Amino acid sequence: MSSLLHEVSIGNVTLKSNLFLAPLAGYTDKVFRSICLKHGAALAYTEMVSSEGVARDSAKTVVLMERGEGEDNLAVQLFMPDADTARRSLEGVMAYKPAIIDINCGCPVPKVVKTGAGSALLQNPKTIREIVSTIVRNVDVPVTVKIRTGWDTNSINYLETAELVFDAGASALCMHARTRSQLYMPTAHWELLADLKKHFHENVIIGSGDLFCAEDGVRMLEQTGVDAIAYARGAIGNPFIFEQTRALLEGNVPRPVSVDEKREAIMIHLRGLVDFMGETTACREMRKHVCAYLKGIPNSAKVRQAVTTALTVQEYEGALSQLK
Ligand SMILES: Cc1cc2nc3c(=O)[nH]c(=O)nc-3n(C[C@H](O)[C@H](O)[C@H](O)COP(=O)(O)O)c2cc1C
Repeated sequence: MSSLLHEVSIGNVTLKSNLFLAPLAGYTDKVFRSICLKHGAALAYTEMVSSEGVARDSAKTVVLMERGEGEDNLAVQLFMPDADTARRSLEGVMAYKPAIIDINCGCPVPKVVKTGAGSALLQNPKTIREIVSTIVRNVDVPVTVKIRTGWDTNSINYLETAELVFDAGASALCMHARTRSQLYMPTAHWELLADLKKHFHENVIIGSGDLFCAEDGVRMLEQTGVDAIAYARGAIGNPFIFEQTRALLEGNVPRPVSVDEKREAIMIHLRGLVDFMGETTACREMRKHVCAYLKGIPNSAKVRQAVTTALTVQEYEGALSQLK
């Protein structure tokens, strides 16, 4: 392994590399997580799971914590407004035997923020500390936290938040290098990731933001010194990104992905979703993934169009057979 590609230990969990799949609401279900793990991700986070929903044992919520095939280290990401909500959810969360519990302090969506959860917590880092210490006290798995750099450019507070989070016993911190106000644009501030790692060089820091291809991942590792990187939008429709990054880090040229391989990957993904949620729902759910898989394939517009109405696996096969 090159010095940039290495194992990472998060508490008592040792991961075979430092290439992770970030939590992505609406995408990182157990099927996609398993696919990314097969393609070389060392850890894959669930999408954010409502602690309140778990505490109430909502079926729609708890299903998000089901373990995927080959998923040895389940990393469950929770969102909650306060420590009490976190505490009430722990029995339900631990029933799914996660290897890691992550706390979402970065979601910018108004529906979440107005409850005091997600990135709203950045405005009150002491609440983040209470949440972390409550979970650390009550479970025996490592707790990690995902933040943004701050609420807005006038309130950048990642160093203060990191201090509190590690003080409370967190085993790693992931930072999406944007403020809440910046949402997903413009460019992520990787220099702030470098600064965070410089200040917390003994702690595990995971970088997120603008990792759209394997080269981006390598550059982030080189330029910021973070211990691990978490692919997000760059992995959607491209689970190959993990093996491509590994190849680059090992000094090899990544193997190009053929159209046939993409077609096969789409069908494996679709069949996995069919087993998980039934054919019609899976076919609907798969549409957004297919559009991402087909990005960059010339003349794929017709296929994209066809899958927008496909409701059976057979219709998908028919549409994809048009791919050259
Ligand atoms: C569709 C979508 C869903 C996301 N869902 C979550 C989530 O559930 N939890 C979380 O912490 N971050 C979530 N994120 C943020 C990503 O994990 C990541 O930090 C962000 O997209 C920056 O990385 P990128 O610029 O490489 O995409 C989401 C992002 C997107 C685009």
